[in-house]
Amino acid sequence: MTVPVIAIDGPAASGKGTIAQRTADALGWHYLDSGALYRLAALAALRAKVSFDDPAALTAAAQSLAPQFKDGRIWLDGEDVSEAIRAETVGVAASKCAAVPGVRQALFDLQRRAAAAPGLVADGRDMGTVVFPEAKLKIFMTASARVRAERRVKQLEARGEKADLAALTRDLEERDRRDRERAVAPLKPAADARLLDTSEMGIDEVVKKVLGWWSELN
Ligand code: C5P
Repeated sequence: MTVPVIAIDGPAASGKGTIAQRTADALGWHYLDSGALYRLAALAALRAKVSFDDPAALTAAAQSLAPQFKDGRIWLDGEDVSEAIRAETVGVAASKCAAVPGVRQALFDLQRRAAAAPGLVADGRDMGTVVFPEAKLKIFMTASARVRAERRVKQLEARGEKADLAALTRDLEERDRRDRERAVAPLKPAADARLLDTSEMGIDEVVKKVLGWWSELN
């Protein structure tokens, strides 16, 4: 039996993570935060002081990645890095790692293995186009640049971190441009994706929309 997959892709801070997690909870399914894997690869490379201009070294760092996922926390080499990988600097570094074909290849199997019964909701940039092309429901989630930057500011402030709206807007734009323009698995909607602009929508409303689309298909 093939495992049902809902793929949610979109630019940084478009709300995919929250929506994917809530949708998975509502359905009693697994949830894959594929961005966390790229963030882990970036954190490992930053800590090993690997040059971000060295694709072979970045690939080797991704290949030797052995993260553990326990009770909603992420561990790397015996350390809980759940907060460390969320830093905006790690997000920007992740988008550099993510442009390296060898890094994407190294993380591909880890992502495919997340598809387990009774189902998977996966979020990222290439879930519907590359990793789970068989997904029955594909969503490309967007929100205006301003709304996305404001949401990220709120997330950072909720964690007690200082956030500068102008600097964050620049980081998000830089990351999105790199994600859209890279040669491998660029950020783009799958041909059969449904577009969802969440700029004017609340979380509950978006989850309801996704669950509605899923039940329409079944
Ligand atoms: O989603 P998140 O912001 O955590 O992702 C961090 C970075 O990882 C993105 O900017 C993107 O470059 C990369 N990424 C990717 N493909 C995915 C998920 C994330 O290239 N499926």
